[in-house]
Amino acid sequence: MAGSGYEIARFLYCSGLFEEEVAKAYSHMAEITVDMDVKCLLNYIADDSYKHAKMFKALSGYPVNVGKCGFENCEKVLGRLWRNITEYSSRILQESEINKHGLLKLIDGLEKFEGFVAEEYMTVLNVKTIEHMARETGLNIEPYEMIFEWIIEDEKRHEQILKVIKNLIVRSNNQP
Ligand SMILES: [Fe+2]
Ligand SMILES: [Fe+2]
Repeated sequence: MAGSGYEIARFLYCSGLFEEEVAKAYSHMAEITVDMDVKCLLNYIADDSYKHAKMFKALSGYPVNVGKCGFENCEKVLGRLWRNITEYSSRILQESEINKHGLLKLIDGLEKFEGFVAEEYMTVLNVKTIEHMARETGLNIEPYEMIFEWIIEDEKRHEQILKVIKNLIVRSNNQP
């Protein structure tokens, strides 16, 4: 991902849309999950992701800096990550009920995403690039600086939460 401030703004905006897709997938999974603990943990990640979406959109300075960058253009901006999540999330949204085996499979897929996303954010959203973007676009990023780090920490936590969820499912599988 390259360097102009406006490109970074677009990256942030598309990351916002990306987080919305992720959030929808998680909250739908929570809805169709019967186990109350698993449901609660999935909703926790969904809420975090909605929160991330809002932050990213605000940070991109949308609509001033992003202009007409629509949904379709995000594939160009985020590449495979975008295609994968939109396909994956529409698959999840089609499910109306889910058994433990199916849930475990979906969680495996999402675990990979979370790791990938954390790395992607870490590479792109470092303070230097963001400062550069702020200079070019005139955006005031100061109030958000800390929040960036928190978002990256959240992503790492999501991975951990998914591991906990997997354990819960496996354990309940072994119960007589
Ligand atoms: Fe996120
Ligand atoms: Fe996440």
